Amino acid sequence: MLQALLQKKKKIAVIGLGYVGLPIALEFGKYFEVIGFDINKNRVQQMREGIDPSMELSSLKIKESNILLTSNPDHLKDAHFFIIAVPTPVDQHKVPNLEYLISASTLVGQSLKKGDYVVYESTVYPGCTEEDCLPILEKCSGLKLDQDFKIGYSPERINPGDQQHTLTKILKIVAGNDAESTQVIADVYGQIIEAGIYKTSSIKVAEAAKVIENTQRDINIALMNELSIIFDKMDIDTQEVLNAANTKWNFLKFFPGLVGGHCIGVDPYYLTYKAQQFDYYPQVILSGRRINDEMPLYLAKKLTQIIIKKGKAPLKCRVLVMGITFKENVSDIRNSKVAELVGELQEYSFKVDVLDPLANPDEVQKEYGFSLIDQVSMKYEAIVIAVKHKAFAVLKPDYYYSILQQNAIVMDIKSLLHKEDFSNYEYWRL
Ligand SMILES: NC(=O)c1ccc[n+]([C@@H]2O[C@H](COP(=O)([O-])OP(=O)(O)OC[C@H]3O[C@@H](n4cnc5c(N)ncnc54)[C@H](O)[C@@H]3O)[C@@H](O)[C@H]2O)c1
Repeated sequence: MLQALLQKKKKIAVIGLGYVGLPIALEFGKYFEVIGFDINKNRVQQMREGIDPSMELSSLKIKESNILLTSNPDHLKDAHFFIIAVPTPVDQHKVPNLEYLISASTLVGQSLKKGDYVVYESTVYPGCTEEDCLPILEKCSGLKLDQDFKIGYSPERINPGDQQHTLTKILKIVAGNDAESTQVIADVYGQIIEAGIYKTSSIKVAEAAKVIENTQRDINIALMNELSIIFDKMDIDTQEVLNAANTKWNFLKFFPGLVGGHCIGVDPYYLTYKAQQFDYYPQVILSGRRINDEMPLYLAKKLTQIIIKKGKAPLKCRVLVMGITFKENVSDIRNSKVAELVGELQEYSFKVDVLDPLANPDEVQKEYGFSLIDQVSMKYEAIVIAVKHKAFAVLKPDYYYSILQQNAIVMDIKSLLHKEDFSNYEYWRL
């Protein structure tokens, strides 16, 4: 396969050109002929114009590449090595929603030929590739695994906004349905991954490894959130406790905060869903999920209590929330826990302004039903620093003083500021 790809006798198709798929397509495009396929015609058009709709990659990187960007499924018929990187969200009941994987597998199945490879990159539960996706490939192609084609799984481990750990610099886990396919997949990815390839003994091991990476982060952050709730009651500053505890060599560096986005807050539900099919009800994982999901409500309640204790009425208070994206230095607002916090504050009757230089105001309006302000032009009874954007980190204390009313509250969820600089205000952090 590798030789045929290098000699451009065979092509790679990447299905789903989002945060994960586009960088993969562009990287493979440096060595192989690549078809970049996405069902979203608008996104494809943007990419053709050199715009990354996910706002992670430079225009030059896209323009320089010579991959075929298309939303025409007929083009998939020319490919022999398929990589599927479509979304794997959960529905409103936190149940895995496989509709994108099913539709992508159907499209690929319709173009599958003898000798082809299909590798899944989407985050799933152990068993999903072989039990849910493979039957669709076989049904739509009329072909049989092993005798006709091979499948594999290679989880993506990129971290949006992280300019250091980029695709080629992260060790790549790969697995095929047998030893031969594992080696072929390792050879193909080995062409682009500088950090090396790690082969697992089965597809299920690779699927499980990916899903526990984010589950572990989720639980560790939940523990920090729980500690923060406990220490707040005891009037102890959690950050000071963590700074002290972090001096021990084996204390893990995690911090309290809001867990949004489409990975850490979602992936654990894939594992817990599958566990329950095996009659096991996961307690630690789901407790962590519950704690993290309840943080917006906790923070809104906390701010309300502080305001009321100061003798003020929420109805008469204007609050500035700084940051709406699901994490720092990205534009992605999907599953933003800050949006939930804004909603909770509004429920408590606060008038809330939201500022975020990275988020797209139209998307925020469409997704959450409120508008962003483009600049601050007044003084607030409270500010909530919700996202640690660089744009906020570079602001000097004087700037914050200029937008705070006397006696105002600074709720510094991400510990962005120096507490000592705000001794004239009511400073609170997680
Ligand atoms: N974003 C991350 O940082 C990250 C990191 C690791 C793993 N993952 C996982 O990778 C997968 C993809 O995530 P993402 O963030 O790239 O998603 P995304 O939403 O950014 O992009 C997915 C793309 O797939 C397209 N798509 C949907 N259905 C399709 C279909 N049937 N055929 C073709 N295209 C289709 C969408 O139009 C979209 O452009 C998910 O399983 C996610 O959990 C994401």
